[in-house]
Amino acid sequence: MSTLDELKQRTSVRIFEDRAIDAQARDEILACAFAAPTAGNQMLYTILQIDDQSIKDRLAVLCDNQPFIAHAPLVLVFLADCRRWYDAYTAAGCQPRDPGVGDLILACEDTMVAAQNAVTAAQHLGIGSCYIGDIVENHDDVVALLNLDKWVFPVALVVFGYPTEQQKRRAKPIRFAAEHIVLHDTYRRLSEEELRAMYTERGEDFDTFVPATCARKYMSDFSAEMSRSVAEYLKAYS
Ligand SMILES: Cc1cc2nc3c(=O)[nH]c(=O)nc-3n(C[C@H](O)[C@H](O)[C@H](O)COP(=O)(O)O)c2cc1C
Repeated sequence: MSTLDELKQRTSVRIFEDRAIDAQARDEILACAFAAPTAGNQMLYTILQIDDQSIKDRLAVLCDNQPFIAHAPLVLVFLADCRRWYDAYTAAGCQPRDPGVGDLILACEDTMVAAQNAVTAAQHLGIGSCYIGDIVENHDDVVALLNLDKWVFPVALVVFGYPTEQQKRRAKPIRFAAEHIVLHDTYRRLSEEELRAMYTERGEDFDTFVPATCARKYMSDFSAEMSRSVAEYLKAYS
C-alpha cells in the first residue's frame, strides 16, 4: 500500500490480538519516531516504554478508566522533556535559565511529531495504535507513578498492538470537508451557516450531535480535570 493510502486508511485500534510486538518491530517504530523532524536536532522528548503490567493497569485507571490500555502489548508515553537539555547545559558549565512555556510548547511540538511518526511506522508494520489524551489528567498520581520531573510533561500516551479482525473492519470516522478546515492567508471565524454545513455534510444532525458532544466531551468531568492538571504542570515553567 502506498504511504498516502496508509495515512488515509489508518484508524485508531483499541482491541488487540493476544500477540506480542517483537523487539525488531518495536525498534523500527522507535527508529521512525527518532527520525521525525525535531527542533534544532535536539529531540526534546523522552519516550517511556511501560513494561510493568501494574503500571499499565494504573494508567488505564488514571487515564479516564480506559481498560484497553492495560491490554495493549506496547504502551509508550511520550514526554516533552525540558529537563535533559537543562541538565546538559548545567553539566557543561552553563548557567541556564529555567525552562519557560515557550520551551514547553516547542518540546510538545517535537514530541507529537515523533509520536505520529511512531504511529505511522506501526501502521506500515500492520500494528494498530491509539492515542490517549487523558495522560495529562491526574497530575499528582501520574507524576508519582512515572517518577516525572517537574520539567517533564506527558504529552501523549500511545498504545500499540495487532488489531483484531473486528478492529480491522471498523469504518474510519468521516472528517470535515477541507473548505471548513483550510483557510487562506488570515484566520476568520466560521459563520453559523458554515458551522451547520460542516456537520450536516458528514451526516451529523447539528442540533443533536453538537450539544451531545459539548456535554460528553467539552463540559465533562475529564475535561475539567485535564485543565486542572495541566495548570499544575504549567506551574513549573517560568
Ligand atoms: C490527542 C488525541 C487524544 C486521543 N485520546 C483518546 C482517548 O483517550 N481514548 C480513545 O479511545 N481515543 C483517543 N483518541 C483517538 C481518537 O478518538 C480518534 O483519533 C478519532 O476518533 C478519529 O478516529 P481515527 O483515529 O480512527 O481516524 C485520541 C486522539 C488524539 C489525536
